[in-house]
Amino acid sequence: MRYLIPLFALLLLASCSKEDAFQIQSPDKKIEVKVMLLDGRPAYQVFYKQQVQIDTSYLGFDFQNQPSIGDGLQVEKFTMSASSDIWEMQWGEQSRVKNEYSELVLTLKESGEPGRSFDLTFRVFDDGIGFRYSFPKQSGMEEVVILDENTEFQLTGDHRTWWIPGDWDIYEYLYNTTRFSEIDALSKFIPGDHLGQVYIPENAVNTPVTMKTAEGVYLSFHEADLTNYAGMTLQVDTANLSMTSELVGNKASIKAKLSAPFDTPWRTIQIADRAGDLIESKLIVNLNDPNELGDISSWFSPMKYIGIWWDMHLDRKTWDYASGRHGATTEYTKELIDFASKNNIGGVLVEGWNTGWETWTEPDQRATIFDFTTPYPDYDLEEVVRYGKEKGVELIMHHETSAAVSRYEERMDEAYQLMERLGIHSVKTGYVGTIIPDGEYHHGQWMVNHYQKTLDYGAKHKVAINMHEPIKATGLRRTYPNMISREGLRGQEYNAWADGGASPPEHLPIIAFTRMLAGPIDYTPGIFNPSLKPYVEDHPVKTTIAQQLSLYVVIYSPVQMAADLIENYRGNPAFQFIRDVPVNWEQTKVLDGEIGDFVVIGRQERGTNDWFVGGLTDENPRSYTLSLDFLAEGKTYIAKIYKDTPETNWETNPTAIDISEQEVTSADQLSFDMAGAGGFAVSLIVK
Ligand code: NOJ
Ligand code: CA
Repeated sequence: MRYLIPLFALLLLASCSKEDAFQIQSPDKKIEVKVMLLDGRPAYQVFYKQQVQIDTSYLGFDFQNQPSIGDGLQVEKFTMSASSDIWEMQWGEQSRVKNEYSELVLTLKESGEPGRSFDLTFRVFDDGIGFRYSFPKQSGMEEVVILDENTEFQLTGDHRTWWIPGDWDIYEYLYNTTRFSEIDALSKFIPGDHLGQVYIPENAVNTPVTMKTAEGVYLSFHEADLTNYAGMTLQVDTANLSMTSELVGNKASIKAKLSAPFDTPWRTIQIADRAGDLIESKLIVNLNDPNELGDISSWFSPMKYIGIWWDMHLDRKTWDYASGRHGATTEYTKELIDFASKNNIGGVLVEGWNTGWETWTEPDQRATIFDFTTPYPDYDLEEVVRYGKEKGVELIMHHETSAAVSRYEERMDEAYQLMERLGIHSVKTGYVGTIIPDGEYHHGQWMVNHYQKTLDYGAKHKVAINMHEPIKATGLRRTYPNMISREGLRGQEYNAWADGGASPPEHLPIIAFTRMLAGPIDYTPGIFNPSLKPYVEDHPVKTTIAQQLSLYVVIYSPVQMAADLIENYRGNPAFQFIRDVPVNWEQTKVLDGEIGDFVVIGRQERGTNDWFVGGLTDENPRSYTLSLDFLAEGKTYIAKIYKDTPETNWETNPTAIDISEQEVTSADQLSFDMAGAGGFAVSLIVK
């Protein structure tokens, strides 16, 4: 075997023995990856601070009509390199991102027939690793059907794991906190739930899945740059403490159909010894391609929004017109536009504006019910857009597809042209129900390509997309900055549904360290009437107003809803925080936190020296001392503090809030006593 070894590669190379082992380190040398061929089988190991975190794990694929690949391989060539640069986030948790890593590219080739080859690329960053497979153009791979990808992750202990089941259709679950060996995804299957939109074929988990080892190392497994491929769940082997990629397929048992050359998404492992570092990690976006759309700021900027939405979830109004309680009227929309324009809120979402909602879940009708262009008679679309523009407020379009994706694809041309003609620059899409065409699942390759199509149409017609019932975020917002936000978790709406069950308080300090590692979340915070009375009885949201305010900082999204009815905001002094809080950040610091217990995040507004801090706790009351040492030195700030009072109690007195103001500097500290399910929010404005 002949190697071409550039000098710098030799220096980087810790070992390259006869058994074909390659070792690369992160720039700070704390993470090390060893990639090997063991008897012709590719495998890798991952070390953190010299301790093995991922033990020998094999790699390979099963194909249709050709042999599996994964043994009988030899190293054709390899390259090692290092890269470091900084890129600008057009909008985001921070304005600049450092992208620094060591890279190993191994070209592997089968020594026997059929002699296929592929590249394995490993990138090792200070905050984790990513690796992907690339199949070059070669004969026999003009059409490839992947029946399975067999990427293993061999754990080194029975870690504490925060997981949701590997459902192929929906991520809207509460997280489970168990030992790895106790993962039992199949027990989470509720037939018929979410209009049949549930399918859990294996004991597998969806990603990001986050773990903590006995030694206190945090690991989170996910993927980056998921394009033209199937979403990856991780099948769990509870006896061997290992996971194997289980791609989402379709009813024809096909996982992905491709044509070489192609790359798989990156398989990622974030590694940290502080839980908050997982949130600060930029591994996922770094493993995506640079911006392909250029500067979109002339038509999309981050914004807060209100909407005709919670009304329907409380069943005070309806999406449909026939009920006589139709929400989306011209008059009500104008009322919201007026409220938004007076309160530093940039957008108004209107759901139920278009015909079809009377029968949108009917099995025999949903396939063709929506056309996405015809408003109900009491909704003058052109007029509300015009009125909004006059008041400086954008209308946010809504496309609920009822998961009739073939229908949506037929109608997209007209629907996106309509938005462009009216100057509507964002749309909330939705995919409730099982996918039409039958045979596809929300997280499979066919849908991954559909979601991509909405981004492409959006780019063409200057529309940014906020997807509900989406494919998970994998960092594509870097490449396509019109991919603004998505649901893809159990959001606030569940708290309104008596039969769904209000989420337990630990949900929020878990999603911050799991779902949020993937990307922006349209959680829809800001419920100021947690009792939900008089619309919903005996089913309060398990929260306090101070905690709802904290979510505007804790949860990152470039679009943040103030979800409650505007009558619950009018005259409430706590609303000042929502007026003031920005949606675009210069930098983010996760000040403290423990998964499932609490989290405190500080973010500096982009373009100013002002800071905003949010902290929240699970069901346990918690005292927290906030050191303000992140503030600019030598400046005086006006701190406006919103916190739970000694009387605040999510069950009996959730609206009690203490609001005060004081001058502070970076030398000061602030103390908080959070109620159970409570929190705090602070704005720190330079004097
Ligand atoms: C589910 C979405 O999550 C929710 O926000 C929306 O209101 C309904 N679907 C109707 O489209
Ligand atoms: Ca949903």
